[in-house]
Amino acid sequence: MKRYKRILFILTFLVAVVVILSRCMNAADKIPDDVRGENYAGAKTCVKCHADISKSFAHNAHGNSSSAVSAQNLNKFLTTDSNTFVFNNEMKVVVEQRDSGIYQVGYFNGKQVRVQRFDIAFGSGEKAFTYAYWKDKKLFQLPLSHFSEIKTWANSPGFPVNTMYFDRVITSRCLECHSSFVKTQTKQVSALQIDEEMEKGSLIYGIDCERCHGPAKQHAVFHLENPKEKAPKFITSYKTLSRKQKMDACAVCHSGNTLTTIQSVFNFQPGDNLDNFYAQDFVSFGGANPDVHGNQSAMLEGSMCYRKSEMTCQSCHNTHESIKGKLNVYSQRCISCHQTQKHTKETLAKGILKANCIDCHMPMQASKLISFQTAGNKNVNPYLLRSHHIGIYPVQK
Ligand code: HEC
Ligand code: HEC
Ligand code: HEC
Ligand code: HEC
Ligand code: HEC
Ligand code: HEC
Ligand code: HEC
Repeated sequence: MKRYKRILFILTFLVAVVVILSRCMNAADKIPDDVRGENYAGAKTCVKCHADISKSFAHNAHGNSSSAVSAQNLNKFLTTDSNTFVFNNEMKVVVEQRDSGIYQVGYFNGKQVRVQRFDIAFGSGEKAFTYAYWKDKKLFQLPLSHFSEIKTWANSPGFPVNTMYFDRVITSRCLECHSSFVKTQTKQVSALQIDEEMEKGSLIYGIDCERCHGPAKQHAVFHLENPKEKAPKFITSYKTLSRKQKMDACAVCHSGNTLTTIQSVFNFQPGDNLDNFYAQDFVSFGGANPDVHGNQSAMLEGSMCYRKSEMTCQSCHNTHESIKGKLNVYSQRCISCHQTQKHTKETLAKGILKANCIDCHMPMQASKLISFQTAGNKNVNPYLLRSHHIGIYPVQK
């Protein structure tokens, strides 16, 4: 009898161990490997518990800031009858669909001289798409970009106006702001030159959950194992961050692309100090002459609103809501700090709309860094962005 009890005890113990172990293994096992390392779970894992956010994210600008090109998403641009960009009498680039994909084809005096396929799209198409092709382990930018405002192809920003150019290298720096990860290798080819190679298969398109929230495997495993736990564990909460930490988490990609990196910003996690990633020339508090393109941080930091309050990007933007174009909703955020405003009669006569503080105080401005040119047009088209330098501007109209 005693022996029987002991066996029963051992058996129960073993079963308990197996159950506990298998539960642990199940949770972690359900999570696929991620190229970024064992601390990452990948965006597919987050869908299980954060379905709504994941769904909205699939359509937003961050989620789509880079993507693999498919005939499906390019076809809508091929229906326009302006698929040719003429540089001069001899030279033109044509966007052509062929059996093996869609290509930009360079012609010289009617003879095909370059053929490169669309592999990667940069941008969500909000304002523009720029494209790149792979050649071995390097990316090169295609000569034509597609601009949403004019619904047509134009010379890629910064490219020569008189000649087609297929050889502009795209480094991992573009991907550091437009994707979640790419594995790189650098080789010193000479005293002055460092050569970078990227692993195509390791590229994670778009800016995914863990790019902004940090590695979250431990978080996912914990909540898979403890479904009744409603308080978040093992994840950095933006609510607990200091103002600088909050600003840094956006400034990592929204402080312009002229900065020198000390280490790859792919390593940046919310809570980190951005000063450890960008060299000292990091422009803070509105110094220098920031551009509207990509440098919302420095623009904002130069504003009175920012200096005289605790404002952060999140005072107006919640990355998980979609209020694009709803300037009345944004204006409510101004009014939350400015319940009353002193406007002159002249200003009020210009039709002060309670519903739109934005067009007067954050006007659209042309980027000094980016502009583009359409075929046969010698004029440069401006690339317009909202000025994040909130202030008093001469009133139009
Ligand atoms: C098994 C369920 C589960 C999975 C899988 C999961 N989470 Fe969560 N997460 C939760 C719960 C529960 C909370 C707390 C309640 C809430 O905020 O929704 C939470 C909260 C969060 C928060 C808010 C933290 C805060 O305090 O502000 C973030 C950010 C987050 N999760 C990110 C992620 C990411 C990224 C992934 C994928 C890598 C992920 N979660 C996967 C269950 C999960
Ligand atoms: C990993 C880089 C990265 C981080 C981190 C990041 N952004 Fe962005 N953000 C981008 C890129 C790239 C775009 C342009 C996307 C596009 O249209 O292709 C963008 C676009 C936006 C837009 C315009 C969206 C639209 O619908 O037009 C807003 C607003 C924005 N970001 C706010 C933020 C805020 C606020 C934070 C901090 C919480 C943040 N971003 C963090 C890279 C980043
Ligand atoms: C561009 C950066 C960015 C990306 C990408 C991003 N988040 Fe967030 N997320 C934030 C910020 C910033 C907050 C804090 C919002 C606040 O407190 O105002 C937040 C808040 C959250 C919260 C807390 C609940 C809430 O709505 O405030 C959860 C949960 C969450 N994110 C999950 C996710 C998941 C899942 C993904 C991927 C599908 C994701 N996030 C992608 C920046 C991002
Ligand atoms: C420091 C971060 C950063 C770097 C580096 C960067 N970008 Fe961007 N890019 C952004 C942000 C932020 C936006 C959107 C808002 C803006 O223009 O200010 C953007 C916008 C774009 C857009 C327009 C997207 C749209 O949907 O309208 C394209 C195309 C683009 N970038 C391509 C590139 C390419 C190609 C490179 C490399 C040569 C590059 N970017 C480097 C941050 C960056
Ligand atoms: C977080 C609070 C906050 C928010 C949100 C906010 N502001 Fe301000 N703003 C301030 C403070 C504080 C000042 C400085 C007031 C002073 O010195 O009397 C200021 C100053 C200003 C000024 C005077 C600027 C100057 O250079 O003299 C204007 C114009 C202004 N805000 C417009 C806006 C608009 C438009 C919005 C929305 C897009 C907005 N603000 C959002 C807090 C805020
Ligand atoms: C006082 C409110 C306010 C604050 C604070 C603010 N933004 Fe914006 N932002 C706006 C408005 C308004 C728009 C235009 C939205 C639209 O047209 O739908 C905008 C647009 C953008 C865009 C799209 C680019 C464009 O020109 O259309 C990006 C990117 C962006 N903000 C990033 C940021 C970042 C990063 C921060 C923090 C450094 C920030 N914003 C802080 C109000 C704000
Ligand atoms: C038609 C353009 C226009 C619109 C719309 C507008 N403003 Fe102004 N605002 C101005 C001008 C111009 C001034 C400078 C004073 C003047 O000449 O009236 C100013 C001044 C201000 C000031 C500084 C004076 C003060 O009150 O301390 C604030 C703050 C401000 N506006 C906020 C707002 C907010 C918030 C809204 C939206 C509810 C708004 N403005 C809508 C043009 C405009």
